[in-house]
Amino acid sequence: MIRRTAPPNLMVVFGASGDLAKRKLLPALFHLYRQKLLHKGFVVLGYARTAMSDDEFRTQIEEALRQHLENEHSDPFDAELWQGFVQNLYYQTGGYDDRAAFEALAARIAELDEAHPTQHNHLFYLATPPNVFEPITALLADVGLADAGDGGWTRLIVEKPFGHDLESAQKLNDHLLRLFREEQIYRIDHYLGKETVQNILVFRFGNGIFEPIWNRNYVDHVQITVSESLGVGARGGYYDKSGAIRDMVQNHMMQLVALTAMEPPVTYDAESVRNQKVNVLRSIRPIDPLEVNKWVVRAQYSAGVAGGEEIPGYLETEGIPPDSTTETYVAWKLEIDNWRWNGVPFYIRTGKALPTKVTEVNIMFRRPPLMYFNSREARGPRVHNSLTLRIQPDESIILGFDAKRPGPQLDVEQVSMDFVYNRAFGDSAISDAYERLLLDAILGDSTLFIRRDETELAWDRVTNVLEGWAIQEEILRRRGKTLPLPQYAAGTWGPMESDDLLAHHGHQWHAPVLNGGR
Ligand code: BG6
Repeated sequence: MIRRTAPPNLMVVFGASGDLAKRKLLPALFHLYRQKLLHKGFVVLGYARTAMSDDEFRTQIEEALRQHLENEHSDPFDAELWQGFVQNLYYQTGGYDDRAAFEALAARIAELDEAHPTQHNHLFYLATPPNVFEPITALLADVGLADAGDGGWTRLIVEKPFGHDLESAQKLNDHLLRLFREEQIYRIDHYLGKETVQNILVFRFGNGIFEPIWNRNYVDHVQITVSESLGVGARGGYYDKSGAIRDMVQNHMMQLVALTAMEPPVTYDAESVRNQKVNVLRSIRPIDPLEVNKWVVRAQYSAGVAGGEEIPGYLETEGIPPDSTTETYVAWKLEIDNWRWNGVPFYIRTGKALPTKVTEVNIMFRRPPLMYFNSREARGPRVHNSLTLRIQPDESIILGFDAKRPGPQLDVEQVSMDFVYNRAFGDSAISDAYERLLLDAILGDSTLFIRRDETELAWDRVTNVLEGWAIQEEILRRRGKTLPLPQYAAGTWGPMESDDLLAHHGHQWHAPVLNGGR
């Protein structure tokens, strides 16, 4: 095993007083530090508008870490370790479009480069709302921070949302690429840092037995479900401008499709892997916006109980306009026009306020040519042998197949063979996605980050859908009507229309198996 230890570096976190920094980034860095994966010359400089001293920032982060460790890991907070970590933690107050503040930032960085052996390696993390991505990067370049010089490297991690549609994503890319080179830009999608997502390629290409049947000759259709039981909660302001297709499909789900469908890369490196993902995205058949309803279903949740919680209807949620047409659920039938997948539908669905939080990729194999046996589920989706890549929770891989039920009759029932991560690798095997991604960015490995063409191709396909919806709404508006979006009660698996999308082709959604085992 090759141990990957980061080189020295100074990481500036823009948006350091925000939620992402406190809940994900700093805890991930602390875990890396605990595992001795950070170099002793690492420095974290938080930057945000909130006026704070270094010590106030440190106290805030300490509290956030304590909470995080206790709630999410039931781990005690290691005070001694914290004492070591905190020595390298600093804070700088400043605006995001204020040149003087960025000059002060440059001076602070120079000072920290002197005080710590950072070797002038700089990583800038944009963990702010997207409306300040452009001013921040423009000012970084303006004050000479886009290229470190002095033998160091400079990299930029850009959080989502990366654009709002194809045009805005292209504009943001053009802007960034005027200031930075593509190899300096790390567009993050945290799904790629999940162990189970990384394992998709290992499962497919590290084994000889699955790949020969991973194609249209053996696969009937593919389903990808990313469901969440929470409603939009307090994130209404952001969510209403985004909706399920921008929030989840353009990024996380398109990546899952790409990894599931891609051809083997020439070698396992950033360019080869991303070339193959791009080929899949390019092969996704663009839909005609006027035919959007044939391919895509959208819906909004109404009040109900999901994941044991009472959830008010989307339109009754604080911050949501009562006539909002933002979708909280989307199901899409994708066709991939390439040699391997032609004629194999990829059904993808995601939504808020569904019965449970689960992410799965289901490969549904073709039925045998003759069905001799009286399967109890003979008419259901289970007549397909299924291979389920359970991304989260209960991380596992489950192969579903028929077996004879012991007894005097010939009764057939579907059973499963399971590989369960925590049984195989122990309870703490799965670390947070951000840990891996931060380490990779510091190491300069962009395999698990999104390249320009990937993000734009995914936006291109999603923008067709958005255009289709906009046309529908415009037609209705001219007639003085608003769109009645299909509804689903919180705690149910989405609207009827989504079942119809599959039923039309003789398919049914695969019911996720909850809490391990079948
Ligand atoms: C984020 C979305 O990108 O992913 C959220 O903005 C969503 O709306 C989250 O809840 C889901 O991530 P995970 O890792 O919890 O599946």
